[in-house]
Amino acid sequence: MSRRPEDPTDRLSPAFLELLKAEPLATLTVLDAGTGAGRLALTLAPHCRAVVGIDREARSIEEARRRAAAAGLSNVRFVVGDIEVEEYTPFKPELVTAYLCMSDAIAERAGRALRPGQVFAFVALHPDQWKETGRPSRFAYAETGARRVLKKYGFTVEHLAVERDVKSFASVEEGLAAAVGLQEKWRADGRWFRYVKFLEDGGRTLTHAHLVVKARKA
Ligand SMILES: C[S@@+](CC[C@H](N)C(=O)[O-])C[C@H]1O[C@@H](n2cnc3c(N)ncnc32)[C@H](O)[C@@H]1O
Repeated sequence: MSRRPEDPTDRLSPAFLELLKAEPLATLTVLDAGTGAGRLALTLAPHCRAVVGIDREARSIEEARRRAAAAGLSNVRFVVGDIEVEEYTPFKPELVTAYLCMSDAIAERAGRALRPGQVFAFVALHPDQWKETGRPSRFAYAETGARRVLKKYGFTVEHLAVERDVKSFASVEEGLAAAVGLQEKWRADGRWFRYVKFLEDGGRTLTHAHLVVKARKA
């Protein structure tokens, strides 16, 4: 059976989890914004007092609920909602996370919901992510942009680092094989052809780059 090549975004950043576990999670209610199928929320739940995962995709929320039930977790709940429109305050979060789902609107709402000393922690795409495709994600944050938005919404940065993983290839074929799982998506948005050209012009890399951030409400 053929397996998709490992993508570093498939697993949660161990450094990010360590940053979270340094907080007194057992006493905290965590709000995971853009929770998807709940992989961060479900990982954190056994360590936390309570976790609320929010996502606008009802199907992802259903999947997250199924996983929570299968894992026997009773301190986590999942809610369908728009995390860039709704306020977080009604959920009374004491720590807010956002994993590969970050925007100024999310930071703004975290800033309004958290009290001084409470943590907002996120992993965001960095502009270098898949730079070989010639088009940075519009959701990407560089270091300066992240610092600016955090300051604007009342946070002090405690940790801000780029996690980078650059795969190198010996041939065009190897480069194509490494991105085969992304082909359909990249064909649809035009990135596939730019990546093929990059490889044909002699490029032999594929870059994953994420910004890992922990900030505290001032
Ligand atoms: C790349 S996925 C990451 C999911 C999850 N955090 C994880 O790491 O597995 C981004 C998620 O953010 C959600 N999302 C994006 N914008 C949103 C919004 N405005 N309101 C709620 N969810 C949103 C998407 O539905 C998707 O599930």
